[in-house]
Amino acid sequence: MKSRLQDIKKEAESEIPSVMSEEDISSIKVKYLGRKGILTLLLRELSSLSPEERKETGKSANTLKKWIEDTLNLKQTELREKGIESLKKGFFDITLPGRLPDIGSIHPLTKVLNEVVDIFIGMGFTIEEGPEIELDYYNFEALNIPKDHPARDMQDTFYITDDVILRTHTSPVQVRTMERRPPPLKIIAPGKVYRCDADITHSPMFHQVEGFMVDKDITFGDLKGMLELFVHQFFGKDIALRFRPSFFPFTEPSAEVDIQCVICKGSGCRVCKGTGWLEILGSGMIDPAVFSYVKYDPEEWTGFAFGMGIERIAMLKYGVDDIRLFFENDLRFLKQF
Ligand code: PHE
Repeated sequence: MKSRLQDIKKEAESEIPSVMSEEDISSIKVKYLGRKGILTLLLRELSSLSPEERKETGKSANTLKKWIEDTLNLKQTELREKGIESLKKGFFDITLPGRLPDIGSIHPLTKVLNEVVDIFIGMGFTIEEGPEIELDYYNFEALNIPKDHPARDMQDTFYITDDVILRTHTSPVQVRTMERRPPPLKIIAPGKVYRCDADITHSPMFHQVEGFMVDKDITFGDLKGMLELFVHQFFGKDIALRFRPSFFPFTEPSAEVDIQCVICKGSGCRVCKGTGWLEILGSGMIDPAVFSYVKYDPEEWTGFAFGMGIERIAMLKYGVDDIRLFFENDLRFLKQF
Protein backbone atom coordinates (compact mmCIF):
# COMPACT_ATOMS: atom_id res chain seq x y z
CA MET A 1 0.00 0.00 0.00
CA LYS A 2 2.89 2.26 0.77
CA SER A 3 4.28 1.87 -2.71
CA ARG A 4 0.84 2.46 -4.24
CA LEU A 5 0.65 5.69 -2.35
CA GLN A 6 4.11 6.59 -3.65
CA ASP A 7 2.92 5.98 -7.23
CA ILE A 8 -0.15 8.11 -6.74
CA LYS A 9 1.95 10.89 -5.28
CA LYS A 10 4.38 10.79 -8.18
CA GLU A 11 1.58 10.86 -10.73
CA ALA A 12 -0.16 13.76 -8.98
CA GLU A 13 3.01 15.79 -8.68
CA SER A 14 3.76 15.37 -12.33
CA GLU A 15 0.34 16.14 -13.74
CA ILE A 16 -1.26 18.68 -11.42
CA PRO A 17 1.16 21.61 -11.86
CA SER A 18 0.52 21.58 -15.60
CA VAL A 19 -3.31 21.94 -15.53
CA MET A 20 -4.45 24.67 -17.92
CA SER A 21 -8.20 24.91 -17.61
CA GLU A 22 -11.13 24.66 -15.24
CA GLU A 23 -12.14 21.43 -17.01
CA ASP A 24 -8.69 19.93 -16.22
CA ILE A 25 -9.14 20.89 -12.58
CA SER A 26 -12.48 19.18 -12.24
CA SER A 27 -11.39 16.00 -14.05
CA ILE A 28 -8.32 15.76 -11.80
CA LYS A 29 -10.51 16.27 -8.74
CA VAL A 30 -12.65 13.36 -9.90
CA LYS A 31 -9.63 11.19 -10.69
CA TYR A 32 -7.99 11.52 -7.25
CA LEU A 33 -10.64 12.72 -4.83
CA GLY A 34 -13.95 11.65 -6.38
CA ARG A 35 -16.16 8.98 -4.87
CA LYS A 36 -14.21 6.38 -6.86
CA GLY A 37 -10.99 8.43 -7.01
CA ILE A 38 -7.71 6.55 -6.62
CA LEU A 39 -6.77 8.33 -3.39
CA THR A 40 -10.28 7.95 -1.96
CA LEU A 41 -10.20 4.21 -2.59
CA LEU A 42 -6.78 3.90 -0.97
CA LEU A 43 -7.92 5.82 2.12
CA ARG A 44 -10.85 3.44 2.40
CA GLU A 45 -8.55 0.47 2.51
CA LEU A 46 -6.54 1.85 5.45
CA SER A 47 -8.76 -0.01 7.91
CA SER A 48 -7.20 -3.31 6.77
CA LEU A 49 -3.73 -2.24 7.94
CA SER A 50 -2.14 -2.77 11.34
CA PRO A 51 -2.47 0.22 13.72
CA GLU A 52 1.14 1.44 13.27
CA GLU A 53 1.07 1.04 9.52
CA ARG A 54 -2.34 2.69 9.39
CA LYS A 55 -1.06 5.67 11.31
CA GLU A 56 1.95 6.19 9.10
CA THR A 57 0.30 5.58 5.72
CA GLY A 58 -2.82 7.44 6.78
CA LYS A 59 -0.78 10.48 7.63
CA SER A 60 1.03 10.61 4.28
CA ALA A 61 -2.20 9.87 2.39
CA ASN A 62 -3.93 12.78 4.13
CA THR A 63 -0.98 15.06 3.48
CA LEU A 64 -1.16 14.15 -0.20
CA LYS A 65 -4.91 14.74 -0.22
CA LYS A 66 -4.48 18.18 1.31
CA TRP A 67 -1.69 19.01 -1.14
CA ILE A 68 -3.87 18.07 -4.10
CA GLU A 69 -6.78 20.14 -2.78
CA ASP A 70 -4.67 23.18 -2.02
CA THR A 71 -2.84 23.04 -5.32
CA LEU A 72 -6.05 22.74 -7.29
CA ASN A 73 -7.65 25.65 -5.40
CA LEU A 74 -4.64 27.79 -6.05
CA LYS A 75 -4.69 26.85 -9.74
CA GLN A 76 -8.35 27.75 -9.95
CA THR A 77 -7.84 31.19 -8.42
CA GLU A 78 -4.91 31.77 -10.74
CA LEU A 79 -6.89 30.77 -13.79
CA ARG A 80 -9.78 33.06 -12.86
CA GLU A 81 -7.53 36.03 -12.26
CA LYS A 82 -5.74 35.40 -15.51
CA GLY A 83 -9.08 35.29 -17.30
CA ILE A 84 -10.16 38.62 -15.85
CA GLU A 85 -6.75 40.14 -16.62
CA SER A 86 -6.90 39.12 -20.25
CA LEU A 87 -10.47 40.40 -20.54
CA LYS A 88 -9.36 43.72 -19.07
CA LYS A 89 -6.42 43.96 -21.44
CA GLY A 90 -8.46 42.96 -24.46
CA PHE A 91 -11.35 44.61 -26.28
CA PHE A 92 -13.89 43.86 -23.60
CA ASP A 93 -14.53 46.36 -20.79
CA ILE A 94 -16.19 44.31 -18.08
CA THR A 95 -16.87 47.44 -16.03
CA LEU A 96 -19.21 48.90 -18.67
CA PRO A 97 -22.84 48.91 -17.51
CA GLY A 98 -25.05 46.55 -19.52
CA ARG A 99 -27.41 47.77 -22.20
CA LEU A 100 -31.02 47.68 -21.06
CA PRO A 101 -33.44 46.10 -23.54
CA ASP A 102 -36.21 48.42 -24.75
CA ILE A 103 -39.46 47.84 -22.95
CA GLY A 104 -42.65 48.32 -24.93
CA SER A 105 -45.16 50.99 -23.99
CA ILE A 106 -48.73 51.98 -24.77
CA HIS A 107 -49.11 53.56 -28.23
CA PRO A 108 -50.18 57.23 -28.00
CA LEU A 109 -53.40 56.50 -29.92
CA THR A 110 -54.30 53.66 -27.56
CA LYS A 111 -53.54 55.96 -24.67
CA VAL A 112 -55.83 58.70 -25.98
CA LEU A 113 -58.54 56.18 -26.89
CA ASN A 114 -58.43 54.71 -23.38
CA GLU A 115 -58.57 58.17 -21.84
CA VAL A 116 -61.63 59.13 -23.89
CA VAL A 117 -63.38 55.85 -23.13
CA ASP A 118 -62.59 56.16 -19.41
CA ILE A 119 -64.10 59.64 -19.23
CA PHE A 120 -67.39 58.41 -20.74
CA ILE A 121 -67.40 55.27 -18.61
CA GLY A 122 -67.16 57.68 -15.68
CA MET A 123 -70.42 59.25 -16.92
CA GLY A 124 -72.16 55.86 -17.03
CA PHE A 125 -71.65 54.87 -20.69
CA THR A 126 -70.97 51.25 -21.60
CA ILE A 127 -68.94 49.93 -24.54
CA GLU A 128 -70.30 48.35 -27.74
CA GLU A 129 -68.43 47.27 -30.83
CA GLY A 130 -69.37 46.66 -34.43
CA PRO A 131 -67.72 45.12 -37.52
CA GLU A 132 -65.18 47.04 -39.60
CA ILE A 133 -66.42 45.28 -42.74
CA GLU A 134 -69.95 46.63 -42.79
CA LEU A 135 -73.09 46.46 -44.84
CA ASP A 136 -74.05 49.50 -46.86
CA TYR A 137 -77.35 49.25 -44.99
CA TYR A 138 -75.86 50.00 -41.55
CA ASN A 139 -73.20 52.45 -42.70
CA PHE A 140 -75.55 54.53 -44.86
CA GLU A 141 -79.10 53.35 -45.51
CA ALA A 142 -80.36 53.03 -41.92
CA LEU A 143 -78.56 56.25 -41.02
CA ASN A 144 -80.87 58.07 -43.40
CA ILE A 145 -78.32 58.22 -46.23
CA PRO A 146 -80.02 56.50 -49.20
CA LYS A 147 -78.05 55.42 -52.29
CA ASP A 148 -77.24 58.38 -54.55
CA HIS A 149 -77.71 60.75 -51.63
CA PRO A 150 -75.17 63.58 -51.97
CA ALA A 151 -74.10 63.04 -48.34
CA ARG A 152 -72.30 59.89 -49.47
CA ASP A 153 -69.76 62.16 -51.08
CA MET A 154 -68.81 63.52 -47.65
CA GLN A 155 -66.87 60.31 -47.10
CA ASP A 156 -64.87 58.53 -49.76
CA THR A 157 -65.85 54.90 -49.29
CA PHE A 158 -63.83 51.70 -49.85
CA TYR A 159 -66.25 49.29 -51.54
CA ILE A 160 -65.82 45.52 -51.30
CA THR A 161 -69.01 44.76 -53.22
CA ASP A 162 -72.01 46.96 -54.01
CA ASP A 163 -73.46 46.23 -50.59
CA VAL A 164 -70.37 45.51 -48.49
CA ILE A 165 -67.90 48.24 -47.55
CA LEU A 166 -65.27 49.18 -44.99
CA ARG A 167 -67.19 51.30 -42.51
CA THR A 168 -66.52 55.01 -42.96
CA HIS A 169 -67.55 55.93 -39.42
CA THR A 170 -68.60 54.29 -36.15
CA SER A 171 -72.21 55.49 -36.49
CA PRO A 172 -73.43 52.10 -37.83
CA VAL A 173 -72.90 50.79 -34.28
CA GLN A 174 -75.80 53.07 -33.28
CA VAL A 175 -78.13 51.19 -35.60
CA ARG A 176 -76.81 47.72 -34.76
CA THR A 177 -77.14 48.38 -31.02
CA MET A 178 -80.62 49.89 -31.21
CA GLU A 179 -81.78 47.06 -33.44
CA ARG A 180 -80.67 44.54 -30.80
CA ARG A 181 -81.62 46.30 -27.60
CA PRO A 182 -84.59 48.29 -26.36
CA PRO A 183 -84.06 51.79 -24.91
CA PRO A 184 -82.83 53.29 -22.61
CA LEU A 185 -79.23 53.14 -23.92
CA LYS A 186 -76.04 54.96 -23.03
CA ILE A 187 -73.28 53.64 -25.28
CA ILE A 188 -69.80 54.44 -26.55
CA ALA A 189 -68.42 52.58 -29.53
CA PRO A 190 -64.69 52.96 -30.21
CA GLY A 191 -63.06 51.45 -33.28
CA LYS A 192 -61.27 51.67 -36.62
CA VAL A 193 -62.86 53.35 -39.63
CA TYR A 194 -61.72 53.68 -43.25
CA ARG A 195 -61.84 56.40 -45.88
CA CYS A 196 -60.04 56.72 -49.17
CA ASP A 197 -58.03 59.75 -48.14
CA ALA A 198 -54.38 60.36 -47.26
CA ASP A 199 -52.41 63.51 -46.43
CA ILE A 200 -50.84 65.07 -43.34
CA THR A 201 -54.18 65.21 -41.51
CA HIS A 202 -55.93 62.18 -43.07
CA SER A 203 -55.10 58.49 -42.93
CA PRO A 204 -57.03 55.80 -44.87
CA MET A 205 -57.53 54.01 -41.55
CA PHE A 206 -58.20 55.98 -38.40
CA HIS A 207 -60.09 55.68 -35.14
CA GLN A 208 -63.36 57.13 -33.94
CA VAL A 209 -65.31 57.03 -30.73
CA GLU A 210 -69.06 57.12 -31.21
CA GLY A 211 -71.30 58.01 -28.30
CA PHE A 212 -75.08 57.96 -28.08
CA MET A 213 -77.80 58.04 -25.51
CA VAL A 214 -81.49 57.23 -25.89
CA ASP A 215 -84.01 57.72 -23.11
CA LYS A 216 -87.19 59.61 -22.26
CA ASP A 217 -86.81 63.39 -22.44
CA ILE A 218 -83.20 63.52 -23.60
CA THR A 219 -82.52 67.04 -24.86
CA PHE A 220 -79.84 68.97 -26.66
CA GLY A 221 -78.95 70.30 -23.19
CA ASP A 222 -77.90 66.78 -22.12
CA LEU A 223 -75.64 66.53 -25.17
CA LYS A 224 -74.08 69.92 -24.48
CA GLY A 225 -73.53 69.15 -20.80
CA MET A 226 -71.83 65.83 -21.41
CA LEU A 227 -69.59 67.07 -24.21
CA GLU A 228 -68.59 70.09 -22.14
CA LEU A 229 -67.67 67.79 -19.26
CA PHE A 230 -65.68 65.64 -21.68
CA VAL A 231 -63.75 68.54 -23.21
CA HIS A 232 -62.86 69.94 -19.80
CA GLN A 233 -61.69 66.58 -18.51
CA PHE A 234 -59.71 65.74 -21.63
CA PHE A 235 -58.20 69.10 -22.63
CA GLY A 236 -58.36 70.92 -19.30
CA LYS A 237 -60.79 73.23 -17.52
CA ASP A 238 -59.48 76.41 -19.15
CA ILE A 239 -60.26 75.30 -22.73
CA ALA A 240 -63.42 76.92 -24.07
CA LEU A 241 -65.75 75.15 -26.49
CA ARG A 242 -68.57 76.15 -28.80
CA PHE A 243 -71.36 74.37 -30.64
CA ARG A 244 -71.57 75.38 -34.29
CA PRO A 245 -74.65 74.45 -36.38
CA SER A 246 -73.90 71.73 -38.92
CA PHE A 247 -75.55 68.96 -40.92
CA PHE A 248 -75.59 65.17 -40.68
CA PRO A 249 -78.37 63.09 -42.29
CA PHE A 250 -78.78 61.03 -39.09
CA THR A 251 -79.06 63.89 -36.59
CA GLU A 252 -81.42 66.85 -36.42
CA PRO A 253 -80.49 69.39 -35.27
CA SER A 254 -76.78 68.79 -35.80
CA ALA A 255 -73.77 70.61 -34.41
CA GLU A 256 -70.04 70.41 -34.61
CA VAL A 257 -68.01 71.13 -31.52
CA ASP A 258 -65.01 73.41 -31.73
CA ILE A 259 -62.49 73.90 -28.96
CA GLN A 260 -60.41 76.97 -28.42
CA CYS A 261 -57.15 76.51 -30.32
CA VAL A 262 -54.77 74.63 -28.04
CA ILE A 263 -51.75 76.22 -29.76
CA CYS A 264 -52.62 79.94 -29.65
CA LYS A 265 -55.35 79.79 -26.99
CA GLY A 266 -57.78 81.54 -29.31
CA SER A 267 -55.80 84.50 -30.62
CA GLY A 268 -55.41 82.97 -34.09
CA CYS A 269 -52.50 81.02 -35.59
CA ARG A 270 -51.54 78.75 -38.49
CA VAL A 271 -53.01 75.62 -36.91
CA CYS A 272 -56.49 77.17 -36.45
CA LYS A 273 -56.12 79.16 -39.69
CA GLY A 274 -56.52 82.39 -37.75
CA THR A 275 -59.98 81.55 -36.41
CA GLY A 276 -58.92 80.66 -32.85
CA TRP A 277 -61.09 77.52 -32.99
CA LEU A 278 -60.53 73.86 -33.89
CA GLU A 279 -63.23 71.36 -34.83
CA ILE A 280 -63.13 68.17 -32.77
CA LEU A 281 -66.39 66.30 -33.28
CA GLY A 282 -69.78 65.98 -34.94
CA SER A 283 -72.98 65.57 -32.97
CA GLY A 284 -76.71 66.09 -32.84
CA MET A 285 -80.10 64.76 -31.78
CA ILE A 286 -80.79 61.36 -33.34
CA ASP A 287 -83.07 61.86 -36.35
CA PRO A 288 -86.54 60.24 -35.98
CA ALA A 289 -85.90 58.64 -39.39
CA VAL A 290 -83.13 56.55 -37.80
CA PHE A 291 -85.49 55.51 -34.99
CA SER A 292 -87.98 54.29 -37.58
CA TYR A 293 -85.36 51.88 -39.00
CA VAL A 294 -84.85 50.28 -35.58
CA LYS A 295 -88.54 50.48 -34.62
CA TYR A 296 -88.14 52.88 -31.70
CA ASP A 297 -91.15 55.15 -31.20
CA PRO A 298 -89.88 58.73 -31.75
CA GLU A 299 -92.87 60.05 -29.78
CA GLU A 300 -91.66 58.14 -26.73
CA TRP A 301 -87.86 58.26 -27.06
CA THR A 302 -85.30 60.89 -27.89
CA GLY A 303 -81.55 60.68 -28.04
CA PHE A 304 -78.30 62.34 -28.93
CA ALA A 305 -75.21 61.05 -30.73
CA PHE A 306 -71.70 62.27 -31.32
CA GLY A 307 -68.59 60.99 -33.08
CA MET A 308 -65.00 62.11 -32.76
CA GLY A 309 -61.72 61.23 -34.43
CA ILE A 310 -59.09 59.92 -32.04
CA GLU A 311 -56.10 60.85 -34.23
CA ARG A 312 -57.38 64.39 -34.47
CA ILE A 313 -57.76 64.97 -30.74
CA ALA A 314 -54.44 63.20 -30.10
CA MET A 315 -52.75 65.59 -32.55
CA LEU A 316 -54.32 68.57 -30.80
CA LYS A 317 -53.52 67.35 -27.31
CA TYR A 318 -49.86 66.59 -28.05
CA GLY A 319 -49.19 69.18 -30.77
CA VAL A 320 -48.44 66.54 -33.43
CA ASP A 321 -48.61 68.11 -36.91
CA ASP A 322 -48.52 65.00 -39.14
CA ILE A 323 -50.98 62.12 -38.68
CA ARG A 324 -48.57 59.67 -40.37
CA LEU A 325 -46.27 59.82 -37.33
CA PHE A 326 -48.81 57.69 -35.47
CA PHE A 327 -48.50 54.86 -37.97
CA GLU A 328 -44.79 54.86 -38.80
CA ASN A 329 -43.89 53.53 -35.34
CA ASP A 330 -40.58 55.34 -35.20
CA LEU A 331 -39.32 54.67 -31.66
CA ARG A 332 -37.95 58.21 -31.39
CA PHE A 333 -41.54 59.45 -31.77
CA LEU A 334 -43.25 56.78 -29.68
CA LYS A 335 -40.82 57.14 -26.75
CA GLN A 336 -42.05 60.68 -26.10
CA PHE A 337 -45.39 59.51 -24.74
N1 PHE B 1 -70.36 59.90 -38.05
C1 PHE B 1 -70.03 61.29 -38.21
C2 PHE B 1 -68.72 61.42 -38.96
O1 PHE B 1 -67.99 60.47 -39.03
C3 PHE B 1 -69.91 61.97 -36.87
C4 PHE B 1 -71.20 62.02 -36.12
C5 PHE B 1 -71.53 61.01 -35.23
C6 PHE B 1 -72.08 63.07 -36.29
C7 PHE B 1 -72.72 61.04 -34.53
C8 PHE B 1 -73.27 63.14 -35.58
C9 PHE B 1 -73.57 62.12 -34.71
O2 PHE B 1 -68.39 62.46 -39.48
